Amino acid sequence: MAITEKFALITGANSGLGKATAVGLARQGYTVVMVARSQARGEAARRDICAASGSQRVHLLLADLASQQAIRALVQDYTRQYDRLHVLVNNVGNSFMTRQTSPDGIEMSLAVNHLAAFLLTNLLLPTLHASAPARIVNVGTRVNAALDFDDLQVERTPYRGLQVYSRTKLGALHFTFALAQRLAGSSVTVNCVHPGVFRSNLGRNSGDSPLWMELLTRLSRPFLTSPERAAERVLYLATAPELAGISGKYYGDRVELPSPPQTLDAAARQRLWDISAALTGLEA
Ligand SMILES: NC(=O)c1ccc[n+]([C@@H]2O[C@H](COP(=O)([O-])OP(=O)(O)OC[C@H]3O[C@@H](n4cnc5c(N)ncnc54)[C@H](OP(=O)(O)O)[C@@H]3O)[C@@H](O)[C@H]2O)c1
Repeated sequence: MAITEKFALITGANSGLGKATAVGLARQGYTVVMVARSQARGEAARRDICAASGSQRVHLLLADLASQQAIRALVQDYTRQYDRLHVLVNNVGNSFMTRQTSPDGIEMSLAVNHLAAFLLTNLLLPTLHASAPARIVNVGTRVNAALDFDDLQVERTPYRGLQVYSRTKLGALHFTFALAQRLAGSSVTVNCVHPGVFRSNLGRNSGDSPLWMELLTRLSRPFLTSPERAAERVLYLATAPELAGISGKYYGDRVELPSPPQTLDAAARQRLWDISAALTGLEA
């Protein structure tokens, strides 16, 4: 192993933004470890990424990130095989049109869009610190909803898939700002990116995408930007030399975005952290 070898771990790396980010990081010389939940989709994407980047240093680990047991096993797998991690991209995301629950009994959107990144990152912090300088990039979105702490798992209110998606993606911002405070003074940084709106398979494998949404997705595809273009935003946060030491920020296309007002509430941020720690069995 070369002394300068750099490692990147990307979740949701077999499709869309994660796959395009994997190509970009592999092209920049990173050893890329992809996380996917399907061996077939993961291996097919791994071959594509090798071909597109010209790198053979692209590896696949399997984990269904809705499952906390699988996330813990993933971290064991990763740390058994690799002792360093320089870039962690928390890209995994999904949308659900009906209420589903994870293997841990948690509402699926909360489990996949927020708790997966929360648990994975916290478990990998020792490896990131040991590899510092290291960067964490959380993939967010433009959020227009606020968290409903009275019904975080949508047990009592009607399930509106897009609203739940937006709320749980707000978690990426709260998590970024809270983690940055905790990491202050270290050489591990964390930032959140809004990747724009782009062509992808979002929601297609959640098993409950209605026909009208499939049609709408198909019709809108020609008007959307490519995942490769969107990945430039992630790659910028992950690698740009001028962002060394920058932490706790929300970025769009290479420019810092104002934090949405919902994320300025420090009490809500702390409350979400405490709930997330309790739901994942971590110490707050
Ligand atoms: N597309 C947009 O316009 C847009 C806009 C703003 C933000 N985003 C965000 O961008 C990120 C990437 O999404 P995308 O648009 O590129 O969608 P995508 O093409 O569907 O990619 C999502 C990836 O996450 C994986 N995934 C979903 N659930 C998983 C689970 N339980 N365990 C492990 N992997 C799982 C998917 O694997 P499978 O192939 O197995 O499903 C896929 O590899 C998400 O965080 C999304 O919220 C997207």
